[in-house]
Amino acid sequence: MASITERTAAPLPLPFEVEDVPEDEIKRYLDLGFEEYTQLVRTKPIPSYFRPAYARLASAFYHFEFRPDDIVVLTYPKSGTSWTSELVWALKNPGALHLAEEVPSSDRVFFIDMDMLRPTRAAEDNPVYRRFVAACPEGRVEDGVQLQLAAAHKGPRIIKTHLRFDLLRQDLLDTCKVVYTIRNPKDTCVSYFHHSSNNKWHAFKGEFAHFAEAFMGNGILYGSYWEHVRQAWQRKGHRNLHVMFYENMKADIHGELRNLANFLQLDRDDDQLKTVADHASFDSMRSRHERVNVNHGIRNFFRKGQVGDWKNAATGDLNERMDAWIRENSHGIDIPFRYD
Ligand code: A3P
Repeated sequence: MASITERTAAPLPLPFEVEDVPEDEIKRYLDLGFEEYTQLVRTKPIPSYFRPAYARLASAFYHFEFRPDDIVVLTYPKSGTSWTSELVWALKNPGALHLAEEVPSSDRVFFIDMDMLRPTRAAEDNPVYRRFVAACPEGRVEDGVQLQLAAAHKGPRIIKTHLRFDLLRQDLLDTCKVVYTIRNPKDTCVSYFHHSSNNKWHAFKGEFAHFAEAFMGNGILYGSYWEHVRQAWQRKGHRNLHVMFYENMKADIHGELRNLANFLQLDRDDDQLKTVADHASFDSMRSRHERVNVNHGIRNFFRKGQVGDWKNAATGDLNERMDAWIRENSHGIDIPFRYD
């Protein structure tokens, strides 16, 4: 198998292009309050917006070699990715849940997008960098630390990503199992707003209405919510794809875990499912996060974890605009969204 390093030396071709987002558009985002969007790139012809490092890494992401024993958690941001990943990890490791008290989720699940979102700081006092140097002595940070750490791992791996299906290998579903979690677009937007406002890099500083405008205009990182969920929904029925809904997980975690365990071909009894559900409950994950992920850059990452919080943010005219946007975009996509 060619290493990522060898591959990036001569990037393999892509079936899409990556271009700089023009300055006038960048200025619009800055005016809306996206203080950190000083430079962005996007894919073409189906746009998805990314940080500049994506231009260099697009080929490594697209050609990343998945293996039959991988489990990929794929979502639009803020749809319940961390929850789903923790459930998958705990279902796979019911006898080793205590490990989560020592090892942060970022070291148990490979979040490959990190190489584009926040490239690893190459410094000896950074434990991720030290791990990278030990596992990939020939590796170069600029070729993607998480990508190379994942490639060097013997497996089985759990990999999470927000990259849309068209930005990953086209044989992904024929290679390994993929869990895709959908959350209703209004709660996703509100959660994304808080995430962007509460991070230490000040990605967004402004009011919800402005954020929602950019979200509905598809101009935020990862682009269109609808394109993302549509590509997953189109693939529904593939034996290697399991679609979950955040709202159903909130309503009946035991039933959802039973379905997930069946999909993953894991034989788990009711007691084990209950232990997994408790391990990954909102309160457990939040308090563990505060103990174990002390250097996380997002304040209040485990914020509310509720269905229907959009009602506190999308009021009056804005809510009507969001409803119209949902009507326009969900036309022809029969996804059974739940809003409360
Ligand atoms: P809120 O901002 O609405 O609270 P992601 O992991 O995709 O970034 O999604 C984050 C959202 O999932 C946040 O939503 C977060 O609070 C919520 N979340 C995380 N863990 C959860 C859990 N165990 N149960 C319910 N919601 C959870």
